[in-house]
Amino acid sequence: MAEAWLIQPSGPLVGDVRVHGSKNAVTKHMVAAIMGQGPSTITNVPEVGDVEITAEILRAVGAGVERSAGAVEVTPPEEAKAEVPLSFSGLNRIPVLLLGPLLHLTGEAFVPRVGGDRIGGRPVDFHVKALRALGAEVEVTDDGIRARCRRLRGAIIELPYPSVGATESALLSASLAQGKTVVRNAATEPEVLELALFLQRMGARIELAPDRRVVIEGVPKLRGARTRLAGDRIEAFSYLVAGLATRGTVRVIGCAQDRLVTAITTLLRMGAQVSIDEHGIAAFAPDGLHAAAVQTDVHPGFITDWQPPLMVLFTQAEGMSVLHETVFEERFVYVPALQAMGGEIELFATCLGGPACRFHDTSYLHSAVVRGPSKLQGTEVEVPDVRAGFSSVIAAATASGPTLLHGVRHLERGYHRPAEQLRSLGLTLQEK
Ligand code: EPU
Repeated sequence: MAEAWLIQPSGPLVGDVRVHGSKNAVTKHMVAAIMGQGPSTITNVPEVGDVEITAEILRAVGAGVERSAGAVEVTPPEEAKAEVPLSFSGLNRIPVLLLGPLLHLTGEAFVPRVGGDRIGGRPVDFHVKALRALGAEVEVTDDGIRARCRRLRGAIIELPYPSVGATESALLSASLAQGKTVVRNAATEPEVLELALFLQRMGARIELAPDRRVVIEGVPKLRGARTRLAGDRIEAFSYLVAGLATRGTVRVIGCAQDRLVTAITTLLRMGAQVSIDEHGIAAFAPDGLHAAAVQTDVHPGFITDWQPPLMVLFTQAEGMSVLHETVFEERFVYVPALQAMGGEIELFATCLGGPACRFHDTSYLHSAVVRGPSKLQGTEVEVPDVRAGFSSVIAAATASGPTLLHGVRHLERGYHRPAEQLRSLGLTLQEK
């Protein structure tokens, strides 16, 4: 695997990109599958690093995981091990989701500290509170989380914020619990619903009620199931923006329009033209782009993972744009790199471009004002996380002069064969 990419100015990026299932859905499906009474098969699986990390974690607790072209088959453990080894500490966010499933399989569980992108504190207190509500004894230590319970029991789980991961934890834990669980203030992101649909195929009884309520009637057992993942909306938006920012046109194939509705409307507001048909979604801006004010939010709002590519697009749009990040408190970590390339961006701790958010009275720099268009220059960049990494790629593609990106492993954790896809669009990219 390459450590760095050297990106040369290459002109407009033009062409088709096929997206696969999303990183943030596939790994959760793999976890669900260990609760079935037989093997499950997941198809349209992306080739991303997180799938392999998750496969290793599941193998460590005794599951079988076989990968073939575009598919993953998970065979539940015959005799599950209750502990995820400490060596998986900090690699991704999957171990915490295993607490419920391991409790069902063994009555106890230990998972090491979770990692994932460094975009904020990323606590797991909602997950812990949900498990306690379901009757588990949970101890949080410096190394990780230990839980015990002979049989989880349905409960009311009130989430303080509609967290994707905590809603998924609750779905996984409640499906085999005794009795009814109601999750209030649940996340409704498409990847969460996709997991709920997969659990339903496995035999779970899940009702998606109005007002962010999810009702789960526990069942005594689940079976193996098959599913084909829907296309990754984060990857899709990233490539649409790569085309627009370089004054080219990328057509994304394999991601349904309804997963991108807010993203498409945002691009239209900036003056882009978007063509949508059964072959895919393409965006182009023959008359240039203008500024916009955007606030990230939970679904169906403008998702936080679309924010880093949008920031780069703002540097190429005419006028003053505003971006207010309300989901993760430190998701502007990549901005200094963009400033070093010539992006005119100023960060503020106040809430700009939308109503006050949870970070209102903190000193987190979570609003940005961007003046465009700026001519970016290539430089040397250390990639801090997966989405930030892709935004640096887009910035490098618009820049004059070469850019050397270090830490591209982050990109490979979340994007399907990114170097190959980018080269096919015309980017001159050398792996180092
Ligand atoms: N939160 C808590 N306590 C918790 C859980 C969450 O305070 O116990 C807070 C978080 O700190 C954050 C907010 O709630 O401020 C939302 O976090 P959420 O739990 O929704 O995020 P997540 O499940 O950790 C997933 C994706 C992220 C994506 C977010 C939001 C995965 C593996 N990760 O994270 O994706 O940005 O939902 O949609 O599914 C990425 O793909 O690059 C990525 C970071």
